[in-house]
Order: sequence, then C-alpha cells, then structure tokens
Amino acid sequence: MSATPVPAIAPTPSESDREPLRARDLAIVGFGRVGRALARRLEQQNGWSGSRRWRVVAALDTSGAWTDPNGIDLVAALGEKDREGRLGNRGPVRGTVGEVLERVRPDVVLELTRGAVVSGEPGTEHILRALAVGADVVTANKSPIARFYAPILDEAQRRQRSVRFGTTVGGAVPLLSLAPTLLAAAAPVRVDAILNGTTNFVLQELARGVGFEDAIGKAQRLGIAEADPSWDLDGRDASLKAAIVHQALFGSELAPEAIPCDRVTADTARRVPPEQRGRVRYASVTTILPGAAEVRLRRIREGGEWDVPGSTCLARVETRYSGTFWLRGPGAGPDEVATALLAELESLERGARASWRRRPADLPPSDVAAKTPIPRSGPVAPPSRIATLRIGGHTARGLRR
Ligand SMILES: NC(=O)c1ccc[n+]([C@@H]2O[C@H](COP(=O)([O-])OP(=O)(O)OC[C@H]3O[C@@H](n4cnc5c(N)ncnc54)[C@H](OP(=O)(O)O)[C@@H]3O)[C@@H](O)[C@H]2O)c1
Repeated sequence: MSATPVPAIAPTPSESDREPLRARDLAIVGFGRVGRALARRLEQQNGWSGSRRWRVVAALDTSGAWTDPNGIDLVAALGEKDREGRLGNRGPVRGTVGEVLERVRPDVVLELTRGAVVSGEPGTEHILRALAVGADVVTANKSPIARFYAPILDEAQRRQRSVRFGTTVGGAVPLLSLAPTLLAAAAPVRVDAILNGTTNFVLQELARGVGFEDAIGKAQRLGIAEADPSWDLDGRDASLKAAIVHQALFGSELAPEAIPCDRVTADTARRVPPEQRGRVRYASVTTILPGAAEVRLRRIREGGEWDVPGSTCLARVETRYSGTFWLRGPGAGPDEVATALLAELESLERGARASWRRRPADLPPSDVAAKTPIPRSGPVAPPSRIATLRIGGHTARGLRR
C-alpha cells in the first residue's frame, strides 16, 4: 500500500513575515534523568527545525561542567554521561556552578538538581546565582520553591527576571502553569489532588493484595520510588507540593511542616473492610484551601474518577467564578517533564512573564475558608537563614527580611 503524501503546509503570511528568533543560550544544571531527557528533546528540535533555536552553552552535574560558548555537542555530552556516568570538565570554563554561570552568562538556567528537601539546597543557591547573572530560571526542583517561594520570586522581580516552576507540582499537568492566568481569573477556592505517584502506585498494589515491602520493591524497580521512599509514603513530598500550590493559587505562605499528613503503612489496605475490598481502596489525596492544607488517606471507589494509575496526577480545582476544573495527566517521568520544561521555555520566549503571585484582593471570601473541614494553620514566619545567602560576595537585598 503506498503511503498517502502529506500535503506541505505553507506558512501563513504572518508566520513567514516573522523575524527569526535569536538562538537562546541555555545552561542545564543537573544532568540526571530530567536534564538528559531535556537535552535529547532540544537536540531533536534543533535537528528538525534546522536552526539552533536553543543553544546549550553549559551542562553541569556533580562531576563538573561541559561548556562551549558556541553550543555544546549534546550528542557527545549525552554519550559521555551514559558511558561514564559523569560529564566531567570539558570546555573553557571550570569551577562551581556559580562560577560557571558567571562566565557563560546564559539567557536561561534550567535548574534540574535533586536536593535536600529541608534546606532547599543546592537548588536555591543555583537559582539565586542564575538570577544574579541576569538569567531567567526554569526549574523542576520543588524544595527551593516550597521553602523560599517569596524570597526567590522577590529576587526575580527585583532583577526583572522570571522564575518558572510549573513542573515542580504535577509534572506535565498544567496546574501551576494555569495559576497566574486561567485559574487566577476563575479564583480558585479549593484544590483536591493526587500529587504523589509513588504513594499512589504503592496504594494500588496494596489494594491488589501485594505485600507492603513487595509493593515498594516493585515501585523501586520501575523507577517510580527512590531508594528511600519514606519521604513519599509519609506524605511529606505531597506537603511540599501543597505549599507551592498554596502560594501559587492563594498568594500566601504555608509551611510544609504545618500540613498534617497521613502515612501509608503496611496496615493501610487492611483498613478497608473485607466486604468492600475490590470496590474501595485508599488514595493519598492532598487538599489545599486558603490558609490550610492536608495530605490524607481517603477511601475512593476503584474504577472511579480518583482511581488513576501510578504516576498520573489528578487535580480538581473548585473556583468561585467558573465552576470546577479537572486536570489529569502525566505527573512524572523524565520525558513528560522535559515536554513541560520545553513549554516553559517557549512561554518565556513569547514574553509571558506572568507571575505566580496573587494580590490579597484576589483571595476568595473568608467564609469559603471557614467552611474548611481541615485544621487551619496560621501564617508562617519567613525563612531567616536565606537572608545570609551570599551572591557574588554581597548579600542580595531582596532576600533580607
Ligand atoms: N524524574 C521525574 O519524573 C521528576 C518529575 C518532576 C520533577 N522532578 C524534579 O526534577 C529534578 C531532577 O530530577 P531527576 O529525576 O533528573 O533527578 P536525578 O536523576 O537525581 O538528577 C539530578 C542531577 O542533579 C545533579 N546534581 C545534584 N547536585 C548537584 C550540584 N550541586 N551541582 C551540579 N549538579 C548537581 C546530579 O549530578 P550527578 O549526575 O553527578 O549525580 C544529577 O545529574 C528533581 O528536583 C526532581 O524532583 C523530577
């Protein structure tokens, strides 16, 4: 059977008249699963379009920096990392992440490290260094944003740069990306969401009768769970995500530690009465309201709308003006996250510097929050230690509190 020729699509006059976009210089800090997936996509895009739209001038991991002011050979860098497990130092620039950024001066820094959840490092320092050298930042690293949301965005605003972090919650699902635009207009009042793929996967396996340790082992073999999955199973990963969503949608801080969390244990599945097994299971559902959030094990109907597979993210957003939005899609996975990072690069290119911060006047009426079935937690003292964080020898003014 002969293939049907695909008709060529002529560009519309407005497209063909457009000025060609200048190549943008990127630095990828963190060349792990997500960093490499992004590098592969950038390489593909450049190959397809024939133009080097995105030029990666630096890629960094813990072993060093691969730099080239004309754009590094991504195929070679990916091959080296696959073979040796490290990038090493190649190119004219060596030094710490901050020193490399200072020398290569990229337009955009992609901060894709996996850091300490409590301190927010090393991601916080990387983001601040990037802003200090005049770069915009796109990050998938949730701990800096959950810990230092306001100071980081203040610093970005002071430097007239943008920090985009849509992939830190829900992977490729545009819950955060819609926060400053569609959802801000609709005025969210409540979010219920499945935000942690590891926990969701383990709970599904438990419901199928798989033992607790076996379920965790399977998640680890599939790359869904970390070597130490306790952070996910305790609900603390979801509490970090809830803190980010709270800031983005309701405009104020909520400390992750103030968010009560249920823990998945070997007993969780046994709490479903025998006569209901096969029809009902537990899911870890994060609820976020103005001023409060919680991560709870809730009973859901198997086969129902909340029974989503493994790493799928599901979010139901109730709004004041436009009813309820359901968002569902890939909540994790290097390729899926790389797709969303590319989308964030695109929106930066198009000048969409929409801020995630909202004015207090946009907050829903207090009676909505008063109806909350979950405990209220008060405002959180801003982090103090970040005030001592030094950038290029001076303490950033925007970070003092
Ligand atoms: N994987 C997902 O599905 C997913 C989904 C949403 C968000 N995220 C977030 O995306 C980020 C990256 O995830 P991942 O799965 O790619 O993690 P990963 O595979 O562990 O990669 C992390 C990378 O960061 C590098 N790194 C760590 N500390 C560094 C430092 N101080 N300086 C330079 N590089 C450093 C590591 O270097 P080495 O290679 O030398 O160790 C590694 O290349 C994480 O914050 C994660 O939470 C991931």
